[in-house]
Parts: sequence; structure tokens; C-alpha cells
Amino acid sequence: MVPATPTLLENDLQLELHFDLAIGPFRANWFIKHTNYARSEIEMPVITNIYDLKRLHKRRTPKMFYDYCESGSWTEQTFRENVTDFDKIRLRQRIAVNMEGRSTATQMIGQDVAMPVALAPVGLTGMQRADGEIKAARAAEKFGVPFTLSTMSICSIEDVAENTEKPFWFQVYTLKDDDFMRRLLDRAKDANCSAIVITVDLQIMGQRHKDLKNGLSAPPKLTPKSIADMVTKVAWGLEMLGTKRRFFGNIVGHAKGVTDPSSLSSWTAEAFDPALDWDRIATLRRMWDGKVILKGILDVEDAKRAAEIGADAIVVSNHGGRQLDGALSSIRMLEQIVEAVGDKVEVHLDSGIRSGQDVLKAVAMGAKGTYIGRAFVHGLGAMGEAGVTKALEVIHKELDVSMALCGRRDIKEVDRDILLVPEDFAGRWA
Ligand code: GLV
Repeated sequence: MVPATPTLLENDLQLELHFDLAIGPFRANWFIKHTNYARSEIEMPVITNIYDLKRLHKRRTPKMFYDYCESGSWTEQTFRENVTDFDKIRLRQRIAVNMEGRSTATQMIGQDVAMPVALAPVGLTGMQRADGEIKAARAAEKFGVPFTLSTMSICSIEDVAENTEKPFWFQVYTLKDDDFMRRLLDRAKDANCSAIVITVDLQIMGQRHKDLKNGLSAPPKLTPKSIADMVTKVAWGLEMLGTKRRFFGNIVGHAKGVTDPSSLSSWTAEAFDPALDWDRIATLRRMWDGKVILKGILDVEDAKRAAEIGADAIVVSNHGGRQLDGALSSIRMLEQIVEAVGDKVEVHLDSGIRSGQDVLKAVAMGAKGTYIGRAFVHGLGAMGEAGVTKALEVIHKELDVSMALCGRRDIKEVDRDILLVPEDFAGRWA
């Protein structure tokens, strides 16, 4: 069942009340007159799609964090094509098919999901909005879809577990330090996480120009530029002042040599394993005796190796276009990977999903599940937990109605037949 959420009006009233109590009516008035945030509150926008949430996210969140979310590596070609390649696929309209009793419910790695969409692991989510990971996890569990906590989150594994009811998934990188890896996995086990997502496409990091130019850090460093930006994001700032969670909660105080956050960037550079190979991935897989999802596969040969080492699912992903700029989009690679290993391992798709129609296309091409990263972060940055719920509702409605208009009532019956795909979609590359 899709849960009821506060309406925009209720949400706005809560926010206004909060401001009145927090900064008094006089300053609230000043705030209303002078900030973009307040202007958008007065306008009371009607959210009909993910791009509405994206606009609000941009307005309400410090630039360095919005840019962290909305960027790809180098020229951002892959980042852009992840989205535009979905547009090349068309849906086949059918009529006079009974549309009653529809269902988008299915399973991902054997777990029931309200629709085949999980929240992807996204670093620094708790900087988009105070306690962001907890808010997103709560929205996901109420909606009935999996939430994946990133190792590079602000709220820790324990924070999220204490503030949610249902098991969530935990993402780990391929780190060199076995002790730290084991401790992370033990903490995930204690927190009752029901799956581990191992990110296999980040041995070294692709360069994102905006992060360098903005001097991205968590918490943000106070420079004239960052202060000038943050004073226009009053609600964000007030909420941040009200939480103690402003550092990388899974790392600070847990990884050797990282007792204070300023050494974090050097830890990140040192901790990832540039010597990663398939034996190491197999070892990491064996460290967790539950379900394991390998995220970041974009090649048929790699998909075959991943299936051999006993992953429960693989995620066709190019890290949202944040790693190898010039790589093909995930949706272009999906079908050949499903053909090669779809009978051995569950295949999921990540990167580029901004609508329910995109989910439908991916499922029709053989994905058993999909992930949204930016789409939920836009909701969070726009309206906190209610915004993540809104993002899920938008995608669910688009998926449900589009599926029906393609003549299908059950997501489990959706197949390639509902699509019109250009013959050269996958491309002939030599
Ligand atoms: C981390 O995984 C990132 O893409 O920033």
C-alpha cells in the first residue's frame, strides 16, 4: 500500500510553525521577504514530477551539496546520456485491456517490495538535509521499498537502525583494510541489515570538477563563499544546528587514524583499494554470509565473473556517470547483460532513472529491480522525509499508469513486448 503523507500545505505549515518558534515572528517575516526558500514556500508549489523536486532542492540546499548530487565526472557525457538514452526507447500503447486490480508489487533478492525501486547508496545524504539518511530510510520503509545506507553517510549504521523499524541494506566500498571492513560488516549485522551492496566501480575516483571548485567537505568549511551561500539557506542551517550528525558517522571514530574529521579526505584517498581484483571481490563476498549485491557492472565479461562468485544480484551501473566519463549509459548495456547472465543472477539497473516510465522500460528490458539516487535526494533536499515520500509517490504513479496504458496490470507480467526500441539502440561498437 502506498502510505498517506502530509500534504504540501501541512508540510509548509509545520515548517512555518517551526520557524516562528525557532526565530520569532519578526525574523520569520524578514526570512519570508528575503530568502528564496521562503518565496517558494509562499508559492506552495504543486509537485507533479521529479524535476519539480529538483528545482526546490537547488533553491533550499547549499550549492556544494546540490552540486555534489547533480554532477558527473569530467565532461559529464555519461551522466547526461544515462538520462537521455531512456528517451530513445518508446512505449507501445495498447487499448481495451482490463486495467482493474493493478499491482506494482514484486521482489528484489527475495524481499517483497511495493515496486521494483530501491533507494541507492548516496554519500553525504545527511548534508542535503539534517539527519537525511534517517529521513530517507523512514520514507522508504513506510513506502515498502529498500533503503541502502552508504558507508560515506552522515548518520551512522546505528543511527539509522535506532530510528527505523525494518532492516535496510548497507553499502560498502572495496577497502584495503580488512579489520575496518570486518568491523563495518559486524556493525551492519548487529543493525540487522538484510543485504550488503558492494560497490565495485570505485577503486579510484573519477574527477568531478564542481566538487573541487566548491571545496566540498562535511561539515562544510566556512569560507566567505560558503557562508554567503549558506545564509540564504536558513531552514537548512537551522535544522543542521539542531542535529549532532554533521560528520561521516560510519568512519569518524571507527577507522584507524580518523579521530577528527579533518583527516577524512586523506583516509578516503588511502582507504580504497587500487589493487582490487576478482579474488579480492570473492573474499569480500565471503565476509558476509547473507545476501550480497555487486554494484557497478557495465560489461558482459564482468557480469559473468560476478555471477561466478555467487552474488545474489548485480547492479548494471556506471555510478551515475560519476566515474568513467565516456562509458555507455546503463540502460544501453542492460539487455546484453541480462541475456548473458539473467538466468544465473538477478540483474538490477541504476543510473539515469528519473521517472516511473524509466523504471518500466528497465523492467521491460529484464531488470528485476532499479535504483534511484538523485531522484530521492532531490525530494530530500526539497522537503525532507515528505519529499522522499513524494519522489516515491511520483515514480509509483508514473509506473502504475504507464504500465496500464501499455496493457499490463501486473509488473511481473511486463516484458520486452511493451517496448519500441530503435534497432541500433545498443549501438555497434568496434
Ligand atoms: C561516492 O561513491 C560518490 O560517487 O561520490
